[in-house]
Amino acid sequence: MGIKFHIVKAQAKDLPEVHAIEKQSFPDPWSLKLFEELLANPSQALYVAQKENEMKENEVLGYVAFWKILDEGHILNLCVDPQHMKQGIGSQLLQFCLDAYVSQAVTLFSLEVRTSNIAAQRLYQKFGFEIKYIRKNYYPNHEDALIMIKRCQFPLA
Ligand SMILES: CC(C)(COP(=O)(O)OP(=O)(O)OC[C@H]1O[C@@H](n2cnc3c(N)ncnc32)[C@H](O)[C@@H]1OP(=O)(O)O)[C@@H](O)C(=O)NCCC(=O)NCCS
Repeated sequence: MGIKFHIVKAQAKDLPEVHAIEKQSFPDPWSLKLFEELLANPSQALYVAQKENEMKENEVLGYVAFWKILDEGHILNLCVDPQHMKQGIGSQLLQFCLDAYVSQAVTLFSLEVRTSNIAAQRLYQKFGFEIKYIRKNYYPNHEDALIMIKRCQFPLA
């Protein structure tokens, strides 16, 4: 049976765990301060997947950050604890983000992903994202970013 978790709005107390996962997962991790700013900004959203039925409170398994400008949703960050990958958590976080904008007239979702990040590209393609552009030298180590886009009918299909 798969791991049981629920997705909830992140709180300040979740940020140390979020940041610990971030540091394990990216060569150029976001700072804790950046996550704090995200929480403080009402136009941005940070949600965490939390493990259910655990004695230990607040076990964060993954998180997603996103925001909306006009009719465009943008995925800012999506990450799953390396110990809990390949159990559907990334998919559910991504689906949660797409669902969050149902009925808000979002017609397009976009995101950037490293050219080397095949796992993430596969995930996004599974959800209907297509590679549209390359942004050269986008990342601090000069790696290129692929811009992936999902166009949506309104309401979201
Ligand atoms: C990308 C990431 C979020 C996927 O999370 P996850 O919980 O492991 O993903 P899921 O279990 O929901 O997998 C869904 C799909 O993603 C793809 N996928 C996930 N891991 C993969 C891997 N290692 N290799 C290839 N495809 C992979 C597959 O298409 C998979 O579908 P399948 O199980 O039917 O094959 C996770 O690998 C991660 O956090 N990576 C580090 C951070 C990161 O790169 N974030 C994205 C930044 S743009």
